[in-house]
Amino acid sequence: MKSQDIRKQFLQFFESKGHTIVPSAPIVLKDDPTLMFNNSGMAQFKEFFLGNGTPKSPRIADTQKCLRVSGKHNDLEDVGFDTYHHTMFEMLGNWSFGDYFKKEAINWAWELLTEVYKIPKENLYVSVFEGSKEDNVPFDQEAWDIWKGLIDEDRIILGNKKDNFWEMGDQGPCGPCSEIHVDLRTEAEKASVSGKSLVNNDHPQVVEIWNNVFMEFNRKADGSLEKLPAQHVDTGMGFERLCMALQGKTSNYDTDVFTPLIEKVEQITGLKYTSDEVKNISEEQNKTNIAIRVVVDHVRAVAFAIADGQLPSNTGAGYVIRRILRRAIRYGFTFLNTKEPFINKLVEVLANQMGEFFPEIKSQQQLVTNVIREEEASFLRTLDQGLQLLDNVIAQTSGSEVSGAKVFE
Ligand code: ALA
Repeated sequence: MKSQDIRKQFLQFFESKGHTIVPSAPIVLKDDPTLMFNNSGMAQFKEFFLGNGTPKSPRIADTQKCLRVSGKHNDLEDVGFDTYHHTMFEMLGNWSFGDYFKKEAINWAWELLTEVYKIPKENLYVSVFEGSKEDNVPFDQEAWDIWKGLIDEDRIILGNKKDNFWEMGDQGPCGPCSEIHVDLRTEAEKASVSGKSLVNNDHPQVVEIWNNVFMEFNRKADGSLEKLPAQHVDTGMGFERLCMALQGKTSNYDTDVFTPLIEKVEQITGLKYTSDEVKNISEEQNKTNIAIRVVVDHVRAVAFAIADGQLPSNTGAGYVIRRILRRAIRYGFTFLNTKEPFINKLVEVLANQMGEFFPEIKSQQQLVTNVIREEEASFLRTLDQGLQLLDNVIAQTSGSEVSGAKVFE
């Protein structure tokens, strides 16, 4: 199934359950002092959870462009090195604002995954909040009982506050959650090590795909919890990971979300990316793969941020975007031998691929391309001059030590 169809099916499923489908909010937040970027689907609905306003429908579903590069949820340093974290990713979500709660949320999640998407039940594990004395929140017996009616008890895992109590940031709406994990390993691997032992253990093929949060509390500035006026549901499914599961891949980068971008980088650099299925690759090929993953991941984050109005700059959110782009340029420069601007050329591919669902990337294509090209050109100049200066410093140093003060000049 193509990624476009996977996204559509999610939305159609929740539409059939009475949800209103809304567009993704912009990736950049302008009016929330606690958050720079949308880091989850619920950020745009925060005020509704807190009881400060009413949404246009008590049931909403969408796909949200998210960025996890700063603050409480920050994956930046993992990106490129592993095959399942991203700076920008899409979060598919369904929400209940004081309407349905755990029973419907869990049953629908299960129905969609196992009956519509047809993920084999024996590849799935779920987790339930074990409770926290510190916060005075009990074990989530209700979620446990609902899951027990759907899945072998043996596949239900208890999770602690770190994994099973979701919070948007240091303050804000929060609550116990129930995660769904998928095991994408081969039969032989599954027979030798149980998937259960690998859940929440950083295994690249045993990954969380969907989090169902049962919003009941607000974390206040002093760290205490207060009950929200009503109970809500906030769910988030990692779209790229879902595509990996449904397309029979073991890396997000082997799905059609990323392959068109990877092909374009291959075409520009003359280098080859090897899919996750190819084992025993050389150290050099591994470095090429990492750099290509960094580039195709980062261009999405930067392009969508610019399309949503956040230009790279020297401060705040603009500086975060500039740093992401510079990380991609550096990886290209060092490992893909790209000494000329090239990342901007990927914007066209991205616009063709995602423009139907996210029209902003199509309508802003030219601006995004120009901004990225200018940023690339100026940073490549800085890199080049810096390296020449460094070479001169090294050449002038007769001994083996180069003074730190000189290097940082
Ligand atoms: N807000 C929840 C999350 O981001 C669904 O995991």
